[in-house]
Amino acid sequence: MAEDSVKIAVIGCGYLGAVHAACMASLGHDVIGIDVDANKIARLQAGEAPFFEPQLNELLVEGQSASSLSFAHSSTHASEADVIFICVGTPQREGDYAANLDYLDAAFRSAAAVAKEGALLVGKSTVPVGTAERLRREIALTRPDLTVMWNPEFLREGHAVSDTLGPDRLVYGVANGDDEAVERLDAVYARLLSEGTPRLIVNLPTAELVKTAANSFLATKISFINAMAELCEASGADVTLLADAIGRDERIGRRFLNAGIGFGGGCLPKDIRAFSARAGEIGADEALTFLREIDLINLRRRNRAVEAIAAMCGGSLLGKRIGVLGASFKPESDDVRDSPALSIAQQLQLQGASVRVYDPEAMENASRRFPELRYVADWQSAVAGADVVAVLTEWTQFTELSPEALSTHVRSQALFDGRNAFDPATFREAGWVYRGVGR
Ligand code: UGA
Repeated sequence: MAEDSVKIAVIGCGYLGAVHAACMASLGHDVIGIDVDANKIARLQAGEAPFFEPQLNELLVEGQSASSLSFAHSSTHASEADVIFICVGTPQREGDYAANLDYLDAAFRSAAAVAKEGALLVGKSTVPVGTAERLRREIALTRPDLTVMWNPEFLREGHAVSDTLGPDRLVYGVANGDDEAVERLDAVYARLLSEGTPRLIVNLPTAELVKTAANSFLATKISFINAMAELCEASGADVTLLADAIGRDERIGRRFLNAGIGFGGGCLPKDIRAFSARAGEIGADEALTFLREIDLINLRRRNRAVEAIAAMCGGSLLGKRIGVLGASFKPESDDVRDSPALSIAQQLQLQGASVRVYDPEAMENASRRFPELRYVADWQSAVAGADVVAVLTEWTQFTELSPEALSTHVRSQALFDGRNAFDPATFREAGWVYRGVGR
């Protein structure tokens, strides 16, 4: 190992942790990834991520062959590390919208139990504001030698490796302006800092809030443009052109202004709900009532998509065949958590349609979570004999399809473009009925 290499343990090897461990090893550190799930660890040891993420398998193989990366399933292996990152999930709690912190609390306790003298414990999970300070105080009771920091992660699924190795910013949450802790985390991110990545040093609650505020802002942007799409539909305007025009204003920006069937995944929907729940707990409920509206606008998109497809079928879905292209919550991901595509597919089926679903990467996850839907092996089988083709996730292999390529398979030439990913004129000129969102 190089002289400036840091001994790192990463507890929790789900999405965030597996990517973080592999990326830290690629920066030249000596990293061990730890997870209680022995199956997950075995797959990671075999150089295979338990989910689809471009570039990650390569890093897993490279790191393990260079002996800078290893995986284990007991937290006792964190005992050698100078820096222990905690990357476990904080899922939505059963029965309400708050975050379930059981895994996080357990991970911090087990890290504190084994950590070597003076180690740095760095939380990366998305948490309700106040969690880091609570853990810091709790740990100080038994292990005053340890330091707790919070360092939120902003990676997007599908771009996780490049986002981790080339972030827009690094946020360090520290208690009491602890310069030594900052220096130690600087040693971990030395390469990113030398490449000019901005670093913001804030207190613990600010670091936690940066993450939830950023995700809430992104969700708000999407629901804002989807609300505009409703107005466009009612007035004959085109939301894509509207987004292009308002997005030219640098204060607004064009990114995350794509109208469609809305946001899903394991982060934005859960995070805005947990954020609202937390605001209530700390007596700031009124500040976030707008997030409930953001959630409602988002969920309404799904119903509106079903209504639009039904209208394309002449008003009733009964006995109609719908070819659904896309199951993951977004392209370049096999994640189907809170996927708008699958929620729409389910509703179509409930209303009597015969639905066939195809996705390039998410078939396994989709069929496990929604076994009642019918999955087929390729896009051709999904659209065969279809009354409407519904493109619900904008994978390039779908958005490159021409009217001619689709026409040979379908029963009627009707396209529902749930992500405004096609050129309406191309389809209309080829004799198709085209329906997008807000255009
Ligand atoms: C999101 C954030 O973008 C990351 O910065 C954050 O780190 C991550 O959550 C997290 O908390 O871990 P991710 O869930 O991977 O990342 O997905 P996004 O790329 O944000 O997309 C979320 C959803 O919004 C998708 O369903 C996507 O289709 C939808 N979307 C996105 C739109 O409907 N319109 C847009 O213009 C953009």
